[in-house]
Amino acid sequence: MAIVKKFRIISYKKRDTLLSLENISFSFNKNHQILDNISLDIPKGQILGLLGSNGTGKSTLMNIISGIIKPNYGKIKIKGTDVTKLPVYLRTRKFNISIIPQFGGLFSSMTAEQNLRAVAEILIEDKSFITTKINELISKFELDSVKKIEAKYLSGGQKRRLVIAMGLISKPEIILMDEPLAALDPQTIQMLQNTIVKLQTDLNLTIIITDHQARDLLAICDKAIILSNSKIVASGTPNELMNDSNANKFYFGKNFQFK
Ligand SMILES: Nc1ncnc2c1ncn2[C@@H]1O[C@H](COP(=O)(O)OP(=O)(O)OP(=O)(O)O)[C@@H](O)[C@H]1O
Ligand SMILES: [Mg+2]
Repeated sequence: MAIVKKFRIISYKKRDTLLSLENISFSFNKNHQILDNISLDIPKGQILGLLGSNGTGKSTLMNIISGIIKPNYGKIKIKGTDVTKLPVYLRTRKFNISIIPQFGGLFSSMTAEQNLRAVAEILIEDKSFITTKINELISKFELDSVKKIEAKYLSGGQKRRLVIAMGLISKPEIILMDEPLAALDPQTIQMLQNTIVKLQTDLNLTIIITDHQARDLLAICDKAIILSNSKIVASGTPNELMNDSNANKFYFGKNFQFK
């Protein structure tokens, strides 16, 4: 998987755990267990990929981490503090978590710029800094030519870039990104890959990311886990997963091209 070498794969052996999941189990109803006894330690500054077939519970796990969904069993700890009972607004604010949702996340009748301003006015205390921050994000995410266009008219890629830009206004420490690379053209994917890796290298952000663009996702992850039948069936660096029989059996399949 040559593309992995473009980026820095970081060794986390000596780093402190930032976020841990302890024996998380969850079901929406009695007949269908979505997550069963999931445990995971995520060190600060890691990019962790969540892989798994459709419906295996990746978005559900993200929602459990952010507090949108309460697990039936188990604990979520951030910096050693048990946050399992902390409501989403307190959890995201106190521990600087930003959620980039799989769908939506925009005010569709507001322009790209107004979307950024709406979030910035809530989150940035120094009001004189708001316009500077908005302009910085518009430029960083190449939204200049569409900043006056209502969000509902933006292309899929422009919407994704805008929603990620909005997610950065709060200066997050942890970012949860649900399928940020879905349905994007190759150059936009590369631009977002670089942006995501820069968030890690420049700001030491911890990023948990799902996507079915598995090759593109593995190219930027330090570690990934594979969910299947409610469990973590494989976990490791992208190179380790390439040779993992469970990873191939439960997710990649025989014909998956890693390069
Ligand atoms: N509110 C809900 N009520 C009942 N079942 C739900 C609810 N939300 C999700 N599910 C079910 O939970 C399972 C896991 O859904 P989830 O959205 O977490 O999957 P996913 O791994 O993110 O899938 P995808 O790759 O398609 O995004 C699915 O079977 C889904 O139908
Ligand atoms: Mg999902």
